Amino acid sequence: MCGIVGYTGAREANPILIDGLKKLEYRGYDSAGVALHRDGCLVINKAAGSVADLEKKLGDQFNKVTVGIGHTRWATHGRPTDINAHPHCSCDNKIAVVHNGIIENHQSLRQWLADEAGHSFRSETDTEVMAHLIEEYYEDDLLEAVRKAVKRVEGSYAMVVIAAGEPDHLVCVRQDSPLIIGLGEGENFVASDIPALLAHTRRTKILEDGEFASITADRVEISDRDGKVVEREILEITWDLEAAEKGGYEHFMLKEIMEQPVAVKETMRQRIDPSTGQVDLSELGFTEAELSSLEKIFIVACGTAYHAGLLGKAIIEKVAGVEVEVDVASEFRYREPIFEKNQLAIVISQSGETADTLAALRLARRNGLKVLAITNVVGSSVSREADRVFYTWAGPEIAVASTKAYLTQLVALYLLTIYIGKARRSIDPELAGELVKNLMDLPGNLKKILSEESLSRLSSYCNHLSQWESAFFVGRNLDYPVAMEGALKLKEISYIHAEAYAAGELKHGPLALIVEGIPVIALVTQKAVSEKILGNIQEVKARGGAVFAITQEGFDDVSRQVDSVFYLPAVNDILAPVLSAVPTQLIAYYAAVARGSSVDKPRNLAKSVTVE
Ligand code: G6P
Repeated sequence: MCGIVGYTGAREANPILIDGLKKLEYRGYDSAGVALHRDGCLVINKAAGSVADLEKKLGDQFNKVTVGIGHTRWATHGRPTDINAHPHCSCDNKIAVVHNGIIENHQSLRQWLADEAGHSFRSETDTEVMAHLIEEYYEDDLLEAVRKAVKRVEGSYAMVVIAAGEPDHLVCVRQDSPLIIGLGEGENFVASDIPALLAHTRRTKILEDGEFASITADRVEISDRDGKVVEREILEITWDLEAAEKGGYEHFMLKEIMEQPVAVKETMRQRIDPSTGQVDLSELGFTEAELSSLEKIFIVACGTAYHAGLLGKAIIEKVAGVEVEVDVASEFRYREPIFEKNQLAIVISQSGETADTLAALRLARRNGLKVLAITNVVGSSVSREADRVFYTWAGPEIAVASTKAYLTQLVALYLLTIYIGKARRSIDPELAGELVKNLMDLPGNLKKILSEESLSRLSSYCNHLSQWESAFFVGRNLDYPVAMEGALKLKEISYIHAEAYAAGELKHGPLALIVEGIPVIALVTQKAVSEKILGNIQEVKARGGAVFAITQEGFDDVSRQVDSVFYLPAVNDILAPVLSAVPTQLIAYYAAVARGSSVDKPRNLAKSVTVE
């Protein structure tokens, strides 16, 4: 995700900003830039590429400059180019802005600024509107101008702004995106993340949503939306650099699991209208006629993204009534699928760089299909070559095992299903309403699943699981793809051999492997088949298997028939897989921790597989 650093004091700002940006590199970025105050002017240097490249470019030409802001950008609105990199400037170059987050109403603001107020834009970014908007309101008081500008903005933001006319002044504002002030002696700092501050200070003040900060070398003043001064306690940071990068968690994987409520919220942002409950994916440019005439969808992906695709097939067929074929990309590209008109290909790829997925995309396009990409990385190969792109806004994922990207892929598929179902008039309106409501409740329900109590229960279950060299995941219907993903996660990071089975298949082979105490994780969230899977569970129990069930509140029969049970908040069964995935991620995580495995970088695996 993007990173912000700001400095005002007596030391050379440039190396402090560059060093701070380097400390934020682990978050992932594609371009970097700084704005420095020099002799009453703002000097901007920015480019696609690394912070090291930017450092070389800057050289020692700014060694007298003591105030500035810096940014690492991870592209969202607009590709990773020099021009789209931050900082962004007003028309007169007298105001510079760095920003993390999304300005939701940037299009209407841009139009107003260009048509009514005569501003000209240089970049494709949402952020640039802020520089112009602040310029519009600036009357020698930067804080006041930022306050007025922000009133017109919808979205999420952590922003730091400087003005040529206010030489040692940084103005900050935050809404739904972190910003931390670092306190020094005769100097002060600001950053979007603690690692950027640790080399200089451990004394911080955390900005809360809706708050502004006015920072000079000697003074930090925090105020609320109405300008009322807010007192904030100093928070002393005790983490070391490594712990700070992981937000205090032991591993990136756990941090990313815990970020899921925010990741799904971001992915739904602007795609569900909370006042009407309507799903709006007009950004994809499909016509109603196109969606109505669809006869088949191919979903193609690898690894975890393939499991998202399997669930996609189940829900699209069930809810939107379109036939779907799902393939792993390495098979699809060699199996000679039958392409006809009125077909759509959907490729799913977190990185957007997976070689097999890219080859599958090209094959589909060569054969005349339109391709929709579901990806997390703006400007990735898949996003550039696809006809349409649905971005998941999970933020960069660092752990090799995908968690938050997977969950946002599921959310994308649910939104798409509802949207296609509506266009084809094949979705029951009542069901559509219920699913949208469940989607809007998702961040809150995920937080419940991620409570301290659940974490400690799952962790203690894994003390048992981790003693075993093999385990089973079983499920039926929509629970089956979740079982497959649960087994994949467990094997890739704990190295326990895990098999997923459609529970009805147990008696056709795997039951031979059930011995006293062997861990069997059963997904039981689908009412239509709950009696059936409870029968399968009895077959396992009769042979000594130890069953841990993941089920929904209200499935009262389950607890009597298994060894232990984990309850999810009750939702429509169709949406349960988005919730049930989370305890399976945590089971894999805690089993890997108990076995002392390298959680974030499992042996022999890579985050992005760019070879066939
Ligand atoms: C690798 C990663 C997996 C990922 C798969 C597909 O195997 O380790 O986590 O699911 O690639 O990657 P993609 O970036 O295309 O989603």
